[in-house]
Amino acid sequence: MKIKNICCIGAGYVGGPTMAVIAQKNPGIKVTVVDLNEKRIAAWNDSNLDNLPIYEPGLDKVVGEARGRNLFFSTEVDKAIDEAEMIFISVNTPTKTYGVGKGMAADLKYIELCARQIARVSTNDKIIVEKSTLPVRTAQAIKNILDNTGNDVNFQILSNPEFLAEGTAVEDLMAPDRVLIGGEQTPEGLEAIDALVNVYGSWVARENIITTNLWSSELSKLTANAFLAQRVSSINSLSELCEVTGADVNEVANAIGKDSRIGPKFLKASVGFGGSCFQKDILNLVYIAKSYGLDAVADYWEQVIIMNDHQKHRFAKNMVKTLYNTVSGKKIAFLGWAFKKDTNDTRESAAIYVADILLDEQANIVAYDPKVTAEQMYGDLDYLQTRDSSSNEKGLTVVKNPYEALNDAHAIAVLTEWDEFKGYDWQKIYDNMQKPAFVFDGRSVLDKPALEQIGFQVYVIGQ
Ligand code: NAI
Repeated sequence: MKIKNICCIGAGYVGGPTMAVIAQKNPGIKVTVVDLNEKRIAAWNDSNLDNLPIYEPGLDKVVGEARGRNLFFSTEVDKAIDEAEMIFISVNTPTKTYGVGKGMAADLKYIELCARQIARVSTNDKIIVEKSTLPVRTAQAIKNILDNTGNDVNFQILSNPEFLAEGTAVEDLMAPDRVLIGGEQTPEGLEAIDALVNVYGSWVARENIITTNLWSSELSKLTANAFLAQRVSSINSLSELCEVTGADVNEVANAIGKDSRIGPKFLKASVGFGGSCFQKDILNLVYIAKSYGLDAVADYWEQVIIMNDHQKHRFAKNMVKTLYNTVSGKKIAFLGWAFKKDTNDTRESAAIYVADILLDEQANIVAYDPKVTAEQMYGDLDYLQTRDSSSNEKGLTVVKNPYEALNDAHAIAVLTEWDEFKGYDWQKIYDNMQKPAFVFDGRSVLDKPALEQIGFQVYVIGQ
């Protein structure tokens, strides 16, 4: 089966870049990305490519090439569903905030709404692709909904989890380590798998496209994120031991990373991982394990989250302790708010939690991030519901010029590893700060010896 029309429901961090690359690499396929969020779609259609709703290096070029040719962004969801032979579901699957499974299970209401909408609108056979990260066996639920609408349309469900990392999304999509496609092992299922293999086959080598049954594919995505996050929590747990023993976590990471069985990636100690996925997907895994009565499995993975929370608290508490046990009324400069560099995404960013603790201690935080807006930062704090909006606005000031944040500060906290921080005029910053001038580098990005030479008191995680 040759695909000519693709629809993707959800124009977010995954749907947008993924479909842009699929469209760029398959000029013969019409790709329509739809979303209920009109503002987001308008931004995807903005003639100025600097205004795309998400920032990813290189994305503007891909969108610029394909948009209007065979890539379209629209709010007309029904029309796009009707036209497509293949529909990707790429909507958000956040942690449930209510009812059974609150704080743990994935909230699948957006997925179910999509399935019901597809069932209502479809008049011809379609392949439905799960692009969102989903609990294992969700495909069964989607199929039940689709197959019980009585309009005689045949649906094949595929699982095609996305492994891109924000900040390097375009690079990852252009040259993925692997593409994973799960489907039913029936003749019709295999045919559907083949159709999707051909879409990726335009630019991904066949040997890098793995095909499996549905459940293996769904579970592999949760497993991949759990393993990645576990490495971060593992090295972070040792960073605390390094600090009390005189070992240096970066030296330890380097030494163990040379072991080919361990490998060097994802061994950087930090103030903790963030992002929309790691925490939510591990909680989801923990919930699934518990629901099957596998308590030991659940406890094992939950520890990854517990360690991550500990690391964020430890960082903030250490700041307070170092600043003579009080930050009340002190100006604390935040460099970075995004959960990692090269993205404007702040979901679950460590900066939010560190800020929350310091605001409880009555600090005056002045934050600078090259890509995150003030509106976003206040929204992140309000979402925690620790205090009312006006208190958050009083405690946090957001500036567009980093030196405004740094001038006169008692301490600096580096919370995102943006490259530009390394190139600042650190002598000038020192001269304009309160003394002693403290730097708390939560991402190990700055040159500690050089800063100490200038006169800074520098704390780096794990040293
Ligand atoms: P997002 O929140 O940026 O985008 C989801 C979009 O879906 C939103 O714009 C929302 O308005 C739209 N939407 C929700 N329900 C809709 C409906 N019924 N009809 C039309 N539009 C609807 O989420 P993001 O980050 O793109 O994540 C999507 C999925 O991909 C999640 O399951 C996530 O776990 C997974 N994922 C995310 C990665 C990331 O780096 N952000 C990486 C890999 C997977």
